[in-house]
Amino acid sequence: AVNLKGKSFLKLLDFSPREIRYLLDLARDLKRAKYAGNEAKMMEGKNVVLLFQKDSTRTRCAFEVGALDQGAHVTYLGPSGSQFGKKESVADTARVLGRMYDGIEFRGYKQSDVEALAKYSGVPVWNGLTDEWHPTQILADLLTIEECKGKLKGLKFVFAGDARNNMGNSLMVGCAKMGMHFAAAAPKELWPDAELISKCKELAKDSGGSVEMIDDMAKACKDADVIYTDVWVSMGEAPEAWEKRIKALKPFQVDMKAIKVAKSDVIFMHCLPAFHDLNTEVAQDIHKKFGLSEMEVTNEVFESKHSIVFEEAENRLHTIKAVMVATIGK
Ligand code: CP
Ligand code: NVA
Repeated sequence: AVNLKGKSFLKLLDFSPREIRYLLDLARDLKRAKYAGNEAKMMEGKNVVLLFQKDSTRTRCAFEVGALDQGAHVTYLGPSGSQFGKKESVADTARVLGRMYDGIEFRGYKQSDVEALAKYSGVPVWNGLTDEWHPTQILADLLTIEECKGKLKGLKFVFAGDARNNMGNSLMVGCAKMGMHFAAAAPKELWPDAELISKCKELAKDSGGSVEMIDDMAKACKDADVIYTDVWVSMGEAPEAWEKRIKALKPFQVDMKAIKVAKSDVIFMHCLPAFHDLNTEVAQDIHKKFGLSEMEVTNEVFESKHSIVFEEAENRLHTIKAVMVATIGK
């Protein structure tokens, strides 16, 4: 049987398809129980701390609500206000938090920091996003796809945009492990690391899936079951990156043309937050500088019947809860 007690959740590469399946099934059960009003509390008496170097809406709220639903107590340490990163090192912070808390969530820049937290704290550490990986997001995405399509195996999944970022990397691994056909729709310079691509091709061989890189949006999206995108510039990247990215990725914007070449029941997904209109400060700023009013996805697609982005966002809660229950629950 699968047993994840005491384990950290740092990146999907550390988990077997069976373990990922276990987490998805547990998330589905927890979601049902919450809806039915009979959720059993598996984390009573536990304390968890959420350590954020970067901003967050979904991830923070999912950890907080998930822990509270399960009877645990939560401390939030934001990008400012703790000693972490300024006066105190990762290793020292880890040894302090590990003595007070049963589990630690970390969102930050370096993957090596989340790995060090796990090493020095001695308690399960959950990666809430680093520059390299965003593993809890992928669990929510897989659960959402399965809810919509009834399966994962054999589905054609397209990731359009910056395929080198945390989402591109993590989705490629998740799809490869779960027997899906992953295609990155991106210009060559934004394909994932060659080494990671070949690793994922190996994984896909075992699972019956496949991994492809395609420098052409229409070709990549042909007959897709899922089209996924993410911001063109990620948290922590220099604002100067925008100009180059817009040039490189404009042909890979998810618009109705992409939806039309896909399967008629294609679903559109996005981890959010998304640039699909001018209703944010950052979008207005970019509009002023570069003239674009929609970026990685058009508002038409974002608001269309194909879009399941808010179901996907809700599933952050159920899947993150599953990760906590599986690793520190009774
Ligand atoms: N998708 C996601 O991680 O969102 P937040 O940045 O709001 O946590
Ligand atoms: N690639 C994005 C994901 C946000 C959830 C970022 O890192 O900013």
